[in-house]
Amino acid sequence: MLLPAIFLASFVIAHPTPEFIAHRAPKVLEEVTIFIPPSTYTIPRTLYARTLLLETDGNETDVLLATWENYSPEPPYFPIFQSTDSGSTWTEISQVTDQVNGWGLRYQPFLYELPSEFGGFPAGAILCAGNSIPADLSATQIDLYASTDKGLTWTFVSHIASGGVAEPVNGDTPVWEPFLMLYQDEMIVYYSDQRDPDFGQKLVHQTSTDLLTWEAAVNDVAYDVFDDRPGMTTVALLPNGSYIMTYEFFGAPEASFAVYYRISDDPTAFDSVPGQVLRATDGTIPTSSPYITWSSVGGANGILAVSANSDSAVYLNQCLGAPNAWTRVSTPESASYSRNVRVLPGGILLITGAGVLSGTDNSVTTSSIDLNTVTLASCN
Ligand SMILES: *[C@@H]1O[C@H](CO)[C@@H](O)[C@H](O)[C@H]1NC(C)=O
Ligand SMILES: *[C@@H]1O[C@H](CO)[C@@H](O)[C@H](O)[C@H]1NC(C)=O
Repeated sequence: MLLPAIFLASFVIAHPTPEFIAHRAPKVLEEVTIFIPPSTYTIPRTLYARTLLLETDGNETDVLLATWENYSPEPPYFPIFQSTDSGSTWTEISQVTDQVNGWGLRYQPFLYELPSEFGGFPAGAILCAGNSIPADLSATQIDLYASTDKGLTWTFVSHIASGGVAEPVNGDTPVWEPFLMLYQDEMIVYYSDQRDPDFGQKLVHQTSTDLLTWEAAVNDVAYDVFDDRPGMTTVALLPNGSYIMTYEFFGAPEASFAVYYRISDDPTAFDSVPGQVLRATDGTIPTSSPYITWSSVGGANGILAVSANSDSAVYLNQCLGAPNAWTRVSTPESASYSRNVRVLPGGILLITGAGVLSGTDNSVTTSSIDLNTVTLASCN
């Protein structure tokens, strides 16, 4: 069920100053449609949405990009849609196509804006990592592309990780779900890895100083039980300098695919800190395909926001991830497999989804909630 956008805080100003623009709150959105796939698309048609807010170009307009798994006629590609009105309307501006494998770009796109010059690219260059997979699903290849014109054109940069058949079956050897983050003078790519024969699946990262060559994979989460499947890393920086990662944990004692998280001073050393389940104050344990982000709105600690596949709500925490302080807060955005959360200027949390794994009429939609108005568990 798609609802039209409602304008809760819309107003017009004749000559806004840049300061005013920077602090105005975007409209709150209810399931704005970004893309309805045509019937030529293979079911589930769309999944796994990702967004990006361009932050380094000083543009007075907030420019958002979105992409997703796009089950188009072969070969698939990652569509790039743009919004210049904080998510109310969207236009396709480009497609990231496979330039090297002849397979298409099929699963798990991720967009990242370089906050500073890196690897021969200027600040503001946009990276797109994703899984290139042939139509028969016989191989997985996490590849990296870049755009230096705000997403209009894309160029292949490097192969990051190669794996086997694209089936989530223990004993098969695929790689999945890249997540990029610049840390000190290295680019980190986190991903899920089934290649180690000791683990059905584990979470790893590789680093690069030039975006061309990648160091060996390092474990982030690897459980002793072979059948355990930690998956789908996302990471956010806390205001005290530590990093928080979320992941789904098939094998968790609390619930199948329970959302877990780890906090580490060093985002390349999550393997050395314990994981804990995310349990809301109402007792809910969200499950499957989590995504975490952090907002500076919400007092000294800001607010952590986690989405998961299991419901339309988000899980908010204003206590740096304290285990007794996750509040479940409803949103207008339907539950989706690997929904994305992103903070817009003014403290609006944009929640973007592209449907569920079992969906036969998935489409890509986005909604938002105002983090200035939520009531959260206090930090005692
Ligand atoms: C802001 O971004 C939009 C979308 O990329 C672009 O059309 C426009 O020219 C940009 N404006 C400035 C001042 O850079
Ligand atoms: C930041 O806060 C978290 C949560 O309380 C804590 O685990 C971590 O040690 C803190 N980091 C620093 C650098 O103080």
